[in-house]
Amino acid sequence: MNKRYVIGNWKLHGSLSKVATFSQQLRMAPATDVVVAIAPPYPYLGACADLPSGCGLAGQDCSAHNSGAHTGEVSASMLSEWGCQWVIVGHSERRTDLAESDQLIVAKLSAAISAGLTPLLCVGESLTVRESGQEEAAVRAQLQAALSDIPPASLLIAYEPIWAIGTGVTASPEQADAMHAVIRNELTGLMDDGASVPLLYGGSVNPDNAGALFDCPHVDGALVGGASLDGTSFSEIVEAAQASLRQ
Ligand code: 13P
Repeated sequence: MNKRYVIGNWKLHGSLSKVATFSQQLRMAPATDVVVAIAPPYPYLGACADLPSGCGLAGQDCSAHNSGAHTGEVSASMLSEWGCQWVIVGHSERRTDLAESDQLIVAKLSAAISAGLTPLLCVGESLTVRESGQEEAAVRAQLQAALSDIPPASLLIAYEPIWAIGTGVTASPEQADAMHAVIRNELTGLMDDGASVPLLYGGSVNPDNAGALFDCPHVDGALVGGASLDGTSFSEIVEAAQASLRQ
């Protein structure tokens, strides 16, 4: 795939002043084949509209509902109104902290698609599962649960091994590439255009390890947590993605 994706997930971090600092630090090369976006906390979506052009916006989550009596929820169509093109669905932190079920994730995928957003579906195994050698089966099962019934027409996947998130322990390029090959194989069975779904890696990606990950044949980009909070380090990851395309 001759394109790269670098998406920053700010999680529950940031402030209005940090958005302004990030915006000053972010270096965006004009018109490249690297798709760049930030998923800030909802209250900062408006302020992020002033980010340098070429940096898009993503939601960190969306409601399964479009409207109604659902206090605290934000719909996919609201995210779209604020300029989001993508929305993260099924992040492991939500699956764990908020007990999001496969059924709910399917409903959120459907809500995102109905609102014209491209979902970024997260999958990934825990340390216990990897240590028991069941990681491929676990990730295949997550894909089947999310995509068997109504595969979205447009989709990104992020493979985020839970043991690599926020730990400083990145999956090795070999581990990431091997799992991405498994995901590609599973997607081609589940979806007509599964061969062209961009596959992002997430879990302790930083400017030092991004280049080796982007050089993996099955890795099309990164979903970046901690290192996306600093505009300079995020820019360096974007530049590593650009360099991997030039090779
Ligand atoms: P870190 O890059 O902080 O490990 O977070 C990864 C992640 O969960 C992105 O969604």
